[in-house]
Amino acid sequence: MTQITTIERHILDQQRLFPEARGTFTQLMYDVGLFAKLIAREVRHAGLVDILGRAGSTNIQGEEQQKLDVYAHDTIVRMMEYTGRVCIMASEEIAGPIRVPEEYGCGDYVLLFDPLDGSSNIDYNVSTGTIFSVHRRVTSCETPGGLEDLLQPGYRQVAAGYVIYGSSTMLVYTAGQGVHGFTLDASLGEFLLSHPDIRIPDAPGYYSVNAGYARYWTEGVRRYVEWLTGRTPDSPAPAMPLRYTGSLVADFHRTLLAGGVFLYPADTRDAAHSHGKLRLCYECAPLAFIMAQAGGYASDGVNPILNLLPRELHQRAPFFVGNARLVREAERFIARYDADWAVAYRDQVVVVREPTEA
Ligand code: AHG
Ligand code: MN
Ligand code: MN
Repeated sequence: MTQITTIERHILDQQRLFPEARGTFTQLMYDVGLFAKLIAREVRHAGLVDILGRAGSTNIQGEEQQKLDVYAHDTIVRMMEYTGRVCIMASEEIAGPIRVPEEYGCGDYVLLFDPLDGSSNIDYNVSTGTIFSVHRRVTSCETPGGLEDLLQPGYRQVAAGYVIYGSSTMLVYTAGQGVHGFTLDASLGEFLLSHPDIRIPDAPGYYSVNAGYARYWTEGVRRYVEWLTGRTPDSPAPAMPLRYTGSLVADFHRTLLAGGVFLYPADTRDAAHSHGKLRLCYECAPLAFIMAQAGGYASDGVNPILNLLPRELHQRAPFFVGNARLVREAERFIARYDADWAVAYRDQVVVVREPTEA
C-alpha cells in the first residue's frame, strides 16, 4: 500500500529532526492546515453562496475588500488567536498588529499573513491563495507580543508557506528542511503529501511580469526583460514564454515547479509603486524563504529579500524571485543601467545580514 503522509504526520516527522521541539510548532502548523481547509471550502463554493463580490469596505492598503478577503482574514484570526501558540499577528487587511487577548495565553510564535492573495481574480474564477510567515517571538513571554516581534528580517523565519486554491487545493510549506507540497483530498478532509522536496528546475521555464506596465519600468528592468526574451546575443534562451495571472501565489507556484522568474519591479507610475506593489512581510519574505529552500533566490533588485529589515508592517519591496541565475542577472542589469535609482533605493531600506553570512 503506498504510504499516505498527511501534513500532520509530515510535520511530526520534521519535528523529530529537532529533539528540543516541544510540539508547539507542530500544533501551530496543524492550525494552519485547519484554517486552510476552512478557507478552501468557502472559495470552492464562492460561486454558489453569497461570498463573491465586494464587501463594501476598503483595507489599510486602500484597496476595495472582497467578501472572501474578509472571510479569510476573520477565519485565520479566529482559528489562531485562542490557541495560545501565537503572541501577536499581522494581516494585509488590518493597519496595525493584531493583539492576542491575554486570556488566551502568550505564545512563542508570531504569524503574519495575506489572507487572500489575488483578490482581483476572485470573481473570474482564477486561482487565488493565502500566504503565511512564522517567526519566533523576540520579546519576553512576560509581556504581550509587539511590533518588534513582527518586524523581523526574513532570514529569521521559522516557517513559511502558501495555500493555492486552484484546480486542486495545495498547501506548500518550508520549516527550513526543504519545501514540501500537500494536496487536499476533500473526501478525507486531509492534506496529503504530493510534492516532497520541491526544487526549482534549472531550465529557464517561464518569465512572469505584468507587461502592461512596461512603459513605467526603469531602463535596467526593461533591458533585463529584453534579455529574458532572447532579444540580446547572450540571452538565456531564444525566447522565454510569458505567463502572468495577477495572482502572486499562482505565478509563484508555477515558477517554483516549472522554473523561470517572477518579477514585480519598482516602477515610475507613481510614489505608491516606487518600491513595487508587493508587501515585504507577508508576501515577499515568506515566498523568498520558500524559494531559497527550493534552490532558488529572491531579491529586491539590489539586496537579498531575506536580508531586508522591515520598518513597517505594510512596507512594499520590488520583487524578483525564481531561478538564482536569472534573478542575479536582474541585479546586474539594475546595477549597470539603474545605478542612480539603486543609490537612492539603498538609502531607503535597512539591510541586515544573517550572522552565519560572510
Ligand atoms: P492581493 O490580492 O493580496 O492584494 O495581492 C494582489 C497582488 C498579487 O497577488 C499579484 O501579483 C499582484 O497584486 C498583481 O498586481 P497587478 O494587477 O498590478 O499586476
Ligand atoms: Mn497578496
Ligand atoms: Mn490579499
